[in-house]
Amino acid sequence: MTHGARIDGKAKAAELATRISSATGALKEQHGLQPGLAVVIVGEDPASQVYVRNKKRTAESCGFHSVQHSLPADTSEADVLAMVEALNRDPAIHGILVQLPLPDHIDEQRVTQAILPEKDVDGFHYINIGKLAAGDTADAFVPCTPAGCMLMIEDQVGKDLSGKRAVVVGRSNIVGKPMASLLLAANATVTIAHSRTEDLPGLCREADILVAAVGRPEMIRGDWVKPGAVVIDVGINRVEVTEGGESRSRLTGDVDFDGALARASAVTPVPGGVGPMTIIMLMSNTLRAAKLSAGIGD
Ligand code: GUN
Repeated sequence: MTHGARIDGKAKAAELATRISSATGALKEQHGLQPGLAVVIVGEDPASQVYVRNKKRTAESCGFHSVQHSLPADTSEADVLAMVEALNRDPAIHGILVQLPLPDHIDEQRVTQAILPEKDVDGFHYINIGKLAAGDTADAFVPCTPAGCMLMIEDQVGKDLSGKRAVVVGRSNIVGKPMASLLLAANATVTIAHSRTEDLPGLCREADILVAAVGRPEMIRGDWVKPGAVVIDVGINRVEVTEGGESRSRLTGDVDFDGALARASAVTPVPGGVGPMTIIMLMSNTLRAAKLSAGIGD
């Protein structure tokens, strides 16, 4: 039986951060341009606050101009839209991210679609979704999580996935659908599975590349994994565990990591896999947005 490798997303993200920092230094020196990222958070969701803090810290470590706008949970939709409009007009800001989820009284689509496509570093604007769906992956701003997953898949399998079968479990707009578009653009044969799929274990066992993005702790069992497959675990689930009579919370993915590792060629861990790669892709998108704003190509 094969025993796979643990894919070190944290190390790969650190490597990319070094490259982004030096490209940012060169951009400042040669063009007097500093990439600017604005993150907007509405309300007090604790997980969102952790993500936003990480994004700000990483942006600063890459040498970006980084601003965070924290708005109270009862902020009106009109005020959030006004904030987005102001950031759209701000020449020091090249990337805008409104952290999701938003409070129930705010229409997420209305807010997401108000961000200028050229500042849409999340890749959620219909213009960017459309470019990606049309296979124009080079021109689109690609959502950060699937973009990071794709780099890790390429490290394992190569850029051309001809002949490979990929199964994406989860059909969200943030992960599942764009992930499927990227895999398809790389010539994989792609299936999107979801909660209504029949015989999910059997389908997963056909996957050379298995991407789990369902948000259910360790739902994908080790014996669902095809021997030699590459497994990408997008799930970040907080579960309560009891240790020595004490209850504490622990992060776990959508995949039974040890079980998958026994059969796969490589598996991403949680934490330390997809998460750090997601954040660094946001920096990569912001650097690119800054360059494009000044007419400097990639
Ligand atoms: N909430 C969870 N993931 C994301 C993401 O990638 N972007 C934004 N804006 N909000 C999120």
